[in-house]
Amino acid sequence: MDCFLVLFVSFATLSFVSAGDVVLTPEAYADTMSVDAILEHLKVFQSYADASANTRAHGSPGYTASAEYVYGIAQDAGLDVQRQGVASPVGFVRGGTLSVEGVTFQAPNVTADFFTNTTAPEGLTTDLVSIAGYGCDQDEFANTANKTVLLKAGQCEVSTKSFNALVSSVPAIIIYDETPLPPTPGAGVFASPRGDIVVPVVLSASYDVGQILLGKLASKSLSVTVNVQIEIQNISSDNVIAQTKWGDQEKVPAGPGINDNGSGSATLAELIKQLVQFDGAKYALRFAWWSSEELGLLGSEYYVDQLTQSERDKIVAYINIDMSASPNYILAIQDNDNSGGQRPPWIPTPPVGSNAIEKILQGVYESMGSNFTGFAIAENSDHASFMTNGIPMGALETGAGGLKTDLEAQLFGGVAGKSYDSCYHSSCDDINNLSHEALILNARAVARALAILANDVSAIEAEQAKASSGARVEFKGASHPMSDLGRHSH
Ligand SMILES: *[C@@H]1O[C@H](CO)[C@@H](O)[C@H](O)[C@H]1NC(C)=O
Ligand SMILES: *[C@@H]1O[C@H](CO)[C@@H](O)[C@H](O)[C@H]1NC(C)=O
Ligand SMILES: *[C@@H]1O[C@H](CO)[C@@H](O)[C@H](O)[C@H]1NC(C)=O
Ligand SMILES: *[C@@H]1O[C@H](CO)[C@@H](O)[C@H](O)[C@H]1NC(C)=O
Ligand SMILES: *[C@@H]1O[C@H](CO)[C@@H](O)[C@H](O)[C@H]1NC(C)=O
Ligand SMILES: *[C@@H]1O[C@H](CO)[C@@H](O)[C@H](O)[C@H]1NC(C)=O
Ligand SMILES: *[C@@H]1O[C@H](CO)[C@@H](O)[C@H](O)[C@H]1NC(C)=O
Repeated sequence: MDCFLVLFVSFATLSFVSAGDVVLTPEAYADTMSVDAILEHLKVFQSYADASANTRAHGSPGYTASAEYVYGIAQDAGLDVQRQGVASPVGFVRGGTLSVEGVTFQAPNVTADFFTNTTAPEGLTTDLVSIAGYGCDQDEFANTANKTVLLKAGQCEVSTKSFNALVSSVPAIIIYDETPLPPTPGAGVFASPRGDIVVPVVLSASYDVGQILLGKLASKSLSVTVNVQIEIQNISSDNVIAQTKWGDQEKVPAGPGINDNGSGSATLAELIKQLVQFDGAKYALRFAWWSSEELGLLGSEYYVDQLTQSERDKIVAYINIDMSASPNYILAIQDNDNSGGQRPPWIPTPPVGSNAIEKILQGVYESMGSNFTGFAIAENSDHASFMTNGIPMGALETGAGGLKTDLEAQLFGGVAGKSYDSCYHSSCDDINNLSHEALILNARAVARALAILANDVSAIEAEQAKASSGARVEFKGASHPMSDLGRHSH
């Protein structure tokens, strides 16, 4: 996802900051959100994309225009605004293919997944084996070392499958659709050029290709060549950081890190714009519009890296939004307390205070009369940059390329067995393919969460105080169903 925006709240320490007449409350802030206004911002972003070869990717002219636009809105709303230049090497996947017995499969039947590793120019040739399951358990990879493994899409995040393969010395995996699905052209267009994400080569294959490979494997042993090429370019662009002038400037809740391609960015723009109506709350709120998250979290990572420890300590909470208007949406809250038991083995326990943020987000949906579900914590969006620096964080999602379950269809409507966002990471991911219902529910949920935090961070501080006094922190943690949000690791 092109996550573009972030919002923070920060707090001031001792100085008492008196609120103005119009205090930011959860209801009042949520009530300022409207679908039409958010769509207006989205049309602006789309016009920049159209004028820039259909992309607002990091470093492109469309991106720069979008950053200018957000900057202007924040200035007009009376916030303190800064731009922060980010220059980094970025990897662009230039193709993923699979060759077997002289036949080469390529997009849209076979695509390189998000965060795949690269191969040598001639590709990687190994024996192919299939496993019966989804690759969500490490022991499924017994006796597959040094081979390319064919496995089914779904049941857990791609990053879990990839990790299980990696620790089993499996150099490449091919994840095929269990049922025929529309192709996902353009899935997985970026990879880490910095070697900080160590993964095997990951290809997604269509149902048809999966069946062809399984058919051949039934009668003979097979050798396959997987080939993924990544081009590294130096790219520069800007983060835009905006903070309210009111409120304690020393303790800052930070707000939504955003988003796949537009809808989240538009939500952030509207959240900032509507702040003009309020002139106080206890703590300042900080909003950030990140330079591209898709490209390995460059913007948020750079931002957090550049902060001194005392500046990091001012950020009491960070809330991430990634995918906020998926057409076949769910309303999912990151499962910080791991009550769903799906946290991947390599993800550490989130920073103390994160459970309280999860509870706040659950309370927000409860107060809106909305159902919600959970999703397993992962490191593939901007909140990760905060998480790894000990900053309490939470995240909301409406679903990516994964398939909606029957239970989720009961909770949220929509179509079971169909992906949350069939345009995920592809060119139809535009203004015509949004759920307006999800868009507004998500915008109001974030507005409420930010206003709650802008007035009261005691739940986070209580969790921190208990942890530092050695007492166990007990959270009821609703045992909600878990979602596989995407076939891609994002
Ligand atoms: C691959 O995709 C093309 C469309 O681009 C389709 O015509 C073809 O049948 C597909 N082949 C397989 C084996 O899935
Ligand atoms: C896998 O390859 C490595 C490096 O070539 C080799 O050391 C190892 O023994 C191989 N493992 C198996 C199970 O073949
Ligand atoms: C890619 O795989 C190679 C081994 O094949 C490994 O040395 C390298 O660290 C991997 N790179 C990334 C970015 O994961
Ligand atoms: C990126 O820029 C750095 C210096 O800023 C340079 O050393 C490096 O070679 C450049 N890489 C590419 C791919 O242009
Ligand atoms: C919440 O889920 C229940 C099914 O568990 C459903 O009957 C109800 O309509 C849902 N509420 C909303 C607001 O979608
Ligand atoms: C979203 O990204 C896709 C390609 O990644 C692009 O074609 C589309 O125009 C973008 N939409 C917006 C609103 O930027
Ligand atoms: C996406 O929008 C196009 C029109 O631009 C429409 O034809 C298509 O059905 C939409 N897809 C989804 C999944 O809503």
